[in-house]
Amino acid sequence: LTLQTDIQPSVAPERFRDGMRRVAAACAIITARDEDGQRVGLAATAICSVTADPPRLLVCVNRSVSAHPAIVAAGALGVNIIPDGQHNLIQRFSGGTPREERFAIGPWRTGVSGAPILADALVAFDCRIVEAIAASTHDILLCEVIDLVTTEGGDPMLYFDGAFRSLTAAAGQSQ
Ligand SMILES: Cc1cc2nc3c(=O)[nH]c(=O)nc-3n(C[C@H](O)[C@H](O)[C@H](O)COP(=O)(O)O)c2cc1C
Repeated sequence: LTLQTDIQPSVAPERFRDGMRRVAAACAIITARDEDGQRVGLAATAICSVTADPPRLLVCVNRSVSAHPAIVAAGALGVNIIPDGQHNLIQRFSGGTPREERFAIGPWRTGVSGAPILADALVAFDCRIVEAIAASTHDILLCEVIDLVTTEGGDPMLYFDGAFRSLTAAAGQSQ
């Protein structure tokens, strides 16, 4: 890798955010259990496949998020991909709601890692954290998938241009 330190950045954070608003993303809820067994979680879109063999994905979690210390201490997390229409659930995990209250709606179970798993998620990945890579404000959590549960059918809920969208609404608009 050649670090291009002589090329100066000219993109302000707000412009970067504007750019990222143009990237449609699946909505997930990242979950874990703290040392007292209490469930924690946050809404997240920064999720990416890494390798199939071994089965690994990464998630980026802001270190200032209240769930962050519990996730790192547990060394395990759940990645629950949320079906279309469950805005209320995502909003509960976007801050401002007390920890356990976030889990008041939805059929939550416990995965083999101990992380909360949403039974009606499009897919729920149960993971152990392999590595935490500090990246300025965030930690990139490299995770090995130790179990997963999928449901048949159903559409995803997308986050695009600062709003929750469904595939069917997007198709309707383009016609
Ligand atoms: C659509 C959406 C996507 C988000 N994606 C991420 C993400 O990928 N990583 C992250 O750390 N926070 C993300 N957040 C913000 C966290 O959900 C939010 O900071 C957190 O729930 C605040 O929790 P706290 O009140 O428990 O600290 C996202 C929020 C929304 C609404």
